[in-house]
Amino acid sequence: MKHVKFIGFIFFLFSLTESLALPTKPQDVDPFYATQKFIEENTVYLTIIAVAQYVQEVSFDEVETLVKVMMDYRDGCLANWTLPECSKRANEAIQDMICSSEGLPQRHNISHCCSKVDFARRLCFFYNKKAKTGFLPPFPTLDPEEKCQAYKNNNGSFLNLYMYEVARRNPFVFSPVLLTVAARFEEAATTCCEQQEKATCFQDKAAPITQYLKASSSYQGTVCGALIKFGPKVLNSINTAVFSKKFPKIGFKDLTSLLEDVSTMYELCCEGDVVQCIQGQSQVMNHICSKQDFISSKIKECCEKKMPERGDCIINTNKEDKPEDLSPREPKFTDSQNVCQERDSNQDGLLIEFTHEYSRRHNYLSTPELLRVTKVYKDLLEDCCSRENAAGCYRHAEDKFNETTEKSLAMVQQECKLFQELEKDALKLQ
Ligand SMILES: *[C@@H]1O[C@H](CO)[C@@H](O)[C@H](O)[C@H]1NC(C)=O
Ligand SMILES: *[C@@H]1O[C@H](CO)[C@@H](O)[C@H](O)[C@H]1NC(C)=O
Ligand SMILES: *[C@@H]1O[C@H](CO)[C@@H](O)[C@H](O)[C@H]1NC(C)=O
Ligand SMILES: *[C@@H]1O[C@H](CO)[C@@H](O)[C@H](O)[C@H]1NC(C)=O
Repeated sequence: MKHVKFIGFIFFLFSLTESLALPTKPQDVDPFYATQKFIEENTVYLTIIAVAQYVQEVSFDEVETLVKVMMDYRDGCLANWTLPECSKRANEAIQDMICSSEGLPQRHNISHCCSKVDFARRLCFFYNKKAKTGFLPPFPTLDPEEKCQAYKNNNGSFLNLYMYEVARRNPFVFSPVLLTVAARFEEAATTCCEQQEKATCFQDKAAPITQYLKASSSYQGTVCGALIKFGPKVLNSINTAVFSKKFPKIGFKDLTSLLEDVSTMYELCCEGDVVQCIQGQSQVMNHICSKQDFISSKIKECCEKKMPERGDCIINTNKEDKPEDLSPREPKFTDSQNVCQERDSNQDGLLIEFTHEYSRRHNYLSTPELLRVTKVYKDLLEDCCSRENAAGCYRHAEDKFNETTEKSLAMVQQECKLFQELEKDALKLQ
């Protein structure tokens, strides 16, 4: 996994921006400043997330000790960012802290990672994450009255404990999601603790939070799994389909440039770098918001929001409408004489462009269906391009695409019918 785009160190950008003469309220103008500020304000949470995701067995006391070390480090660097230890990436600083904490690496079997350096150490920490968390005790449930008492007595520590318990049980979820979960949980605690029916209130508020966490966890797990197993090319196809479907207005050139930022973000987030993941996501959102005219007319309000709501808002906005003048199909891939030449010179490029053109036109299909159609096209070209009359052979590609999508549509309908039957039966039982 490469790190190209971002200046590593958390506080560096902050200091740099401050030393330039910026307008009076820079956070309104400069997205990088806002991101830095956000990261600084969330240093406690980010440290908890990183430590609890890397070393899930760690105790809350140990985490609190590390948080203190990290806060001192941050304050030291904010006071004088030319100190040599301040040129580290935040992720490196956190791993250094874990490794130099007295007895901790031995207690939690992470010493073998601490003896490595650079990329090997980062990878080792990453592979230490365990998706199956059965070795942890069940999520502690407190009586609502107790919960509210704990919250009232010490809201900071109470929320930190919550963050720790959630993060160690969801070691692959991206940090912006966990920060959002924490913010929503805090909101729930504030509201519910003032009510009579605390338990009901917590139940109602917790359901959508849990739902959001599970959905994000499952999606991010799948995408990162694809990245780790199949590499960046597959990640790029997935994102081509996802973004073309959501933003059918976007041209292929603009999409390619956006997807560079998206790939970088996934590489950082999947690796578990909590700070750079936020910077990566923020870069993607800034990119989208700065090109709204070419991308979507529906995200204006989202783009006015701050982190981390901004990202979620954009992700959850409805699809952009298809442009009126978008032809029902792109002749370039089936009617042109030189498809095989293009394929010979740059197969990946041709297939990505195909995925984009097909996805934006068929944005009602699911991402796996769209990728299946691309696979059908790839196989068809492989067959046709070895034949004498290649153009005549791939001219009927559209039939094959329709066959593919009709088949999966029928399958979905079948499943929905089955599901409805089950629902009916379930109702009868009640
Ligand atoms: C900041 O740290 C540098 C490098 O250690 C040192 O030379 C410099 O005197 C420090 N500046 C202040 C204001 O402490
Ligand atoms: C410690 O980690 C290593 C490497 O992952 C593993 O082989 C070993 O079984 C672990 N030991 C314990 C006691 O968990
Ligand atoms: C705890 O509550 C106080 C008073 O309501 C508030 O000022 C503070 O920001 C809260 N702390 C956290 C971490 O939420
Ligand atoms: C494929 O399906 C689309 C949409 O259902 C339809 O408009 C098109 O005519 C079909 N093409 C062929 C070659 O069957």
